[in-house]
Amino acid sequence: MIFEQLFYTKSSTYTYIISSGKGREALIIDPVIENSDEYIKVLKNLELKLVKVIDTHIHADHVSGLNELNKRTNCTRIMGERSKSEVIDLKIKDSEKIEIENIKLEAMYTPGHTDCSYSYLMNDRVFTGDTLLINGTGRTDFQSGSPYDAYDSLFNRLLKLPEKTLVYPAHDYNGKKNSTIENERNNNPRLQVSSRDEYAEIMNNLNLANPKMMDVAIQANLKGLTLDQI
Ligand SMILES: [Fe+2]
Repeated sequence: MIFEQLFYTKSSTYTYIISSGKGREALIIDPVIENSDEYIKVLKNLELKLVKVIDTHIHADHVSGLNELNKRTNCTRIMGERSKSEVIDLKIKDSEKIEIENIKLEAMYTPGHTDCSYSYLMNDRVFTGDTLLINGTGRTDFQSGSPYDAYDSLFNRLLKLPEKTLVYPAHDYNGKKNSTIENERNNNPRLQVSSRDEYAEIMNNLNLANPKMMDVAIQANLKGLTLDQI
């Protein structure tokens, strides 16, 4: 299997390029527009045909690469059905499967960071977007986020996956590339709570500054624009 994890420094975003092998169909999760050339280069080097691109949620800290990649390769742009993006080709439901050649992903609706956040399970690994981060969890204070929904997504969905499941998040700010469900359950400081209210208490008192690009990035990602077009 081809599994490339690329990092975008400005917003500490991870992007994943996935394919069952050289010369086959490929899928990209959470691409960043500025790195489009790099993705195309990886695809070319491995003779991959990009057929699907997914955003786990509407990103507030960078402009998505979905539209640029669609322009260049005609790939299908996918998000969960709660996405308010106007430029999505396919909106999928909870438990629905996304397939490319020899690869199958299952969508899991995991709201809380935003109301359009989905995770994607692929055999031994799960792409958690910003719902579950390594040693952290996504903030819940904008884009219709909810700490109560996040608690349910974390404790009743993601942490119920087999404990050896690998966790691949949409960001990491400390150089970590992946984790496991077991490791997060036992060590993630945000997950050492005993109730929804306790979790909400933590999340409602984070007092985080808004992401620098928030207003423009969300607009761009809802409408499929570049920063110059806003
Ligand atoms: Fe996010």
